[in-house]
Amino acid sequence: MKTDQKQSDQNHSDGGLEIDTPSGDNSAAHQSTGQSVICLKNIHKSFGNLEVLKGIDLEAGRGDVIALIGSSGSGKSTLLRCANLLEIPQQGEVIFEGDAVKWKGSDWSRSPADFDQVRKLRTNLAMVFQQFNLWAHMTILQNIIEAPITVLGRERQAAEALGHELLEKVGIGDKADAYPSQLSGGQQQRAAIARALAMEPKAMLFDEPTSALDPELEAEVVRVIRALAREGRTMIIVTHDMKLARDVANHLIFLHEGLIAEQGEPDTVFENPKSERLQKFLSATASV
Ligand SMILES: Nc1ncnc2c1ncn2[C@@H]1O[C@H](COP(=O)(O)OP(=O)(O)OP(=O)(O)O)[C@@H](O)[C@H]1O
Ligand SMILES: [Mg+2]
Repeated sequence: MKTDQKQSDQNHSDGGLEIDTPSGDNSAAHQSTGQSVICLKNIHKSFGNLEVLKGIDLEAGRGDVIALIGSSGSGKSTLLRCANLLEIPQQGEVIFEGDAVKWKGSDWSRSPADFDQVRKLRTNLAMVFQQFNLWAHMTILQNIIEAPITVLGRERQAAEALGHELLEKVGIGDKADAYPSQLSGGQQQRAAIARALAMEPKAMLFDEPTSALDPELEAEVVRVIRALAREGRTMIIVTHDMKLARDVANHLIFLHEGLIAEQGEPDTVFENPKSERLQKFLSATASV
């Protein structure tokens, strides 16, 4: 499906949960356009004395593409890591497809109570990192089929067929038998995206997927992400690339010192940033 993202948004029925507007956020909270996939409520996360997230609400409905921007250290990666439970927030709820993560203990001693629930959530929320994290000793195809076979129990032949298909999709169909070190950075990142897609995730979390790449390699990866957005995939993308955020997202969130300082429809927010902090941040980054 190659429909325009904004056009496809109009086809989603309203069914998402409403989220509260956090303090400090003077702009429109996101009204989810589709059935809720990932919903974070009042997320608080500290590391020792450092309070990194101070009460974040975020909801991605099916087909939503949310871009998370903010200066270094504002808590963007920590928020993504809380979403798939790589970090455990001391307070707040993580709700996946309407199913709230069950906890045992509280505050600093809080941990997930149900391991199967965590596994389900992680399997369905594929994460793509800045550093591609491919297994160096495996070919690209082996990297892609490993988790579908071991975690999802797929047959090797079916996993390989899907692997080849996904490599074609990201434009590196000829690299199945190469090792990661034989690929450019852009090709490795596209392989990492194919690996994430092979898990048939319900949503994808990208943490600075292009920032380790030279501009021309970055463009190859941006093309793939844009195509995924057009397919109506649910994605949360942390990025320093304002053009990417503006191009692919239907909702933009600006994090500042652990709070949502501003959010809204990307064109509106970029053209008319309300807060001085966002104005400063945008003028310090490349123009959009
Ligand atoms: N595991 C950890 N232990 C201690 N402090 C941490 C840990 N992870 C993150 N932090 C701190 O939390 C703050 C937010 O970090 P985070 O990585 O979420 O920022 P970010 O917005 O992703 O920044 P960047 O744009 O540089 O990637 C930083 O001050 C960081 O040093
Ligand atoms: Mg980060």
